[in-house]
Amino acid sequence: MTEPHDLVDKVMTELPEWLPAQRWFGGKDRPVTSIRPLRTSVLRAEEPVLVHLVVEVEQPDRKEPYQLLVTDHVENYDATAVPELTGALLDLIAEGGEVEGLKFEHEPDVEITTGLRGRPITSEQSNTSIVFGSQYILKLFRKLTYGDNPDLVLHRALHQVGCEHIAQPLGSITGRLDGHTTTVGMLQQFMPDAVDGWAMATTSVRDLMAEGDLHADEVGGDFAGEAHRLGQAVATVHGDLERALGIEHADAADIDRTVRAMTSRLDEVVGAVPELRPYVPALREAFEQARDTPDAVVTQHIHGDLHLGQVLRTVQGWLLIDFEGEPGSPIAERTALRSPLRDVAGMLRSFDYAAHQLLVGQPEDHQLTVRALEWSRRNRAAFTEGYAEAAASSVGDPRKSGHLLRAFELDKAVYEVAYEHANRPEWLTVPLSSIARITGEGAVQS
Ligand SMILES: Nc1ncnc2c1ncn2[C@@H]1O[C@H](COP(=O)(O)OP(=O)(O)O)[C@@H](O)[C@H]1O
Ligand SMILES: [Mg+2]
Repeated sequence: MTEPHDLVDKVMTELPEWLPAQRWFGGKDRPVTSIRPLRTSVLRAEEPVLVHLVVEVEQPDRKEPYQLLVTDHVENYDATAVPELTGALLDLIAEGGEVEGLKFEHEPDVEITTGLRGRPITSEQSNTSIVFGSQYILKLFRKLTYGDNPDLVLHRALHQVGCEHIAQPLGSITGRLDGHTTTVGMLQQFMPDAVDGWAMATTSVRDLMAEGDLHADEVGGDFAGEAHRLGQAVATVHGDLERALGIEHADAADIDRTVRAMTSRLDEVVGAVPELRPYVPALREAFEQARDTPDAVVTQHIHGDLHLGQVLRTVQGWLLIDFEGEPGSPIAERTALRSPLRDVAGMLRSFDYAAHQLLVGQPEDHQLTVRALEWSRRNRAAFTEGYAEAAASSVGDPRKSGHLLRAFELDKAVYEVAYEHANRPEWLTVPLSSIARITGEGAVQS
């Protein structure tokens, strides 16, 4: 019989090795200097023991809280893989209540089915999600942000205004952390028939590459209709966020800050990646041009990390998931009001990635490169057109804010250059060739 507190002691001694081996651990590139427990809740004292644990992980330049769910039932202690234990979490949410300071709640007016077993999803994730039957998905946030998680906040706000392009939020788990009521879990409606946008888009690209002489609009797997509907869905979600939480207008000082941030990121990245150097003058000019926008720039709550992997195609249409923002960015930045064109730019970058990913690491093939470009152009245009059709009047057609949209896209590409340089050097050509193309093509393009 394992005492819960003995289990915690044992886990604590093994964490320095165990933690960096987990795929969701965000600090793999730096050594872990110390780990200490921040809070512990024993959710089940009898075998198999279940303990909810939040630890603070210290690294040379940061201290971050991480959430763990541990058991004595499996060798690696990870309780998220044990169906009867994760089932207990769902039951707690269904009942509602508090266990040792952890609060389990379902959203008002929803009833949760109990007695389901949970299975963790296997895709690469920055968090850990558990699926119950074909009905629910529970996301356990791994790296915690003090306070309400924006994923939950924005899902709730969108649901309240009847947004049709999200999975309904159904419940939450919260705990006190350093004086803040902090979201540690979010329960949502699971879409069993969903296919993610990245899988659909790259399948379409593969079809095109496999066809001898046909063009993107002639092959069976053409994605442009989907891209168009996706653009409409993203614009509709932006409109719903506006209705739920309002908008503001950026003034000259805000825009100045944005331009400076883009320029200083460029300076930083070019220091590390000399391949970027030839594009610096054109990039700087593009960032400066973001200042001359014809209309006032609207800022609002946005998705913040939008790409094809964050959208799901279901029988009812496209859904946006994961409103947490870029996991690596500071929370203040993630919750700040920003231009919705940043999300548009994120999706445009993703179309470029989907188009070119099959060519990475392959010998140069002119024909395939032309096809990739053709696919990208077609789908970027369809997405933008769909967005323009459904955009709120406050935002309007993104092509009318061409300078700003282009600057956001280039800023994202500069970020990708840094990321690929550090993580996947073979992929560096994807953002670099986009930068060459976008800076070479002039302002308004899609
Ligand atoms: N409501 C849902 N229905 C079906 N699958 C989902 C749902 N929400 C998330 N998923 C699946 O889980 C994956 C990770 O979800 P996401 O919210 O993006 O987590 P993370 O924060 O870890 O990135 C998605 O890529 C998708 O495959
Ligand atoms: Mg995600």
